[in-house]
Amino acid sequence: MAKYRIAWMPGDGIGRDVMEAARIVLDRMGLDAEYPPADIGWEFWQNEGDALPPRTIDLLKTCHCALFGAVTSKPRDEAAAELAPKLRGTGLTYRSPIVRLRQLFDLYVNLRPCKAYPGNPLNYREGIDLVVFRENTEDLYAGVEFHPVPADVRAALEANSRAMAAFRSSPSEDIALSCRILTRRGCARIVRAAFEYAQSRGYPSVTLVEKPNVVRETSGLITREARKISAEYPKIPLWEANVDAMAMWLIKNPREYGVLVTTNMFGDILSDLAAQLTGGLGFASSGNIGDTFAVFEPTHGSAPKYAGQHKVNPIATLLAAKLMLDWLGETEKAGALETAVAGVIAEGKIRTYDMGGTGGTLDVAHAVAERL
Ligand code: NAI
Ligand code: MG
Repeated sequence: MAKYRIAWMPGDGIGRDVMEAARIVLDRMGLDAEYPPADIGWEFWQNEGDALPPRTIDLLKTCHCALFGAVTSKPRDEAAAELAPKLRGTGLTYRSPIVRLRQLFDLYVNLRPCKAYPGNPLNYREGIDLVVFRENTEDLYAGVEFHPVPADVRAALEANSRAMAAFRSSPSEDIALSCRILTRRGCARIVRAAFEYAQSRGYPSVTLVEKPNVVRETSGLITREARKISAEYPKIPLWEANVDAMAMWLIKNPREYGVLVTTNMFGDILSDLAAQLTGGLGFASSGNIGDTFAVFEPTHGSAPKYAGQHKVNPIATLLAAKLMLDWLGETEKAGALETAVAGVIAEGKIRTYDMGGTGGTLDVAHAVAERL
């Protein structure tokens, strides 16, 4: 039996191209692993009415972690219209499989390193090394939403919040409501994960990015938890920034920051901003990490127009594999993989179109593999 069982989830679109590249590199490293394939993605929604079939969840429970490519997602009504004829009108609702995985396996950390590898022509500036810790299970993503707002929900809000008076003249069917839910436990564990990471990797600061002056209760809760937890890490200062200001500071002084920690929605936006500073979607890797399970992925989507062309940049996925190796405790292999990727970037001979080159997805993978 192999030492690791890693669920292999290419998904659809370019997810398949980039995962083919990842496999070339992992095989070259001789990781002692088996990679059972797991069904996920658009075709399973269309043909079975479930983009994340129960058999996939069962399989994941037998694995140490998963590597995931990308899946196509569409808004509710469009998704319903693309179901196989026999499934149409049966009341199925599309839900993003990756969001479901995060919730099902309580993968509360979304880790997004954004490093400017020397020689990458897409770097906004050299020397950037940011790591975003985005809370992955709560906030506006909790899915507690209403439209129209049920009468009893509305009555409870009106009875308990004076601010509801501003909406008095809107009929309930004209109000959409999404709840921003944070828990003390959720806040504490993401902040702690950020400090632990900063401490173990030598990052000089942790910046909490929120908006406590406006969304007082939720941002207030995480701010208070962060201040408490930061006292346990006296060597690492806790900086606090408002999310709007942070969007400016990251453009102005991206090198001044190290680890950023924030809630789900702010983190979604900030991590894309941070990714663009260091090469964009072709470089952005992430880990969805819980206490006992994790799913690693490039943050880009399925880019259907490039599907199967082996044209897109696999580096985001190779860096996701690097995060996976780190998480498995294969620190040496993780370091070797990162060095090999950095070497290919610096050498500049083989580059995909986004970097101004004409190389293909698998050319990059082979160039990385040769350095291992
Ligand atoms: P996308 O990330 O798939 O692609 C946007 C554009 O970015 C592409 O057209 C391409 O120009 C560029 N790009 C993406 N990955 C690249 C790579 N590895 N190398 C070079 N260039 C790359 O985002 P889009 O077009 O908004 O979404 C397409 C589909 O993917 C949608 O159905 C969307 O819902 C889904 N999606 C899935 C995600 C996931 O599986 N985690 C995340 C984001 C979107
Ligand atoms: Mg996103």
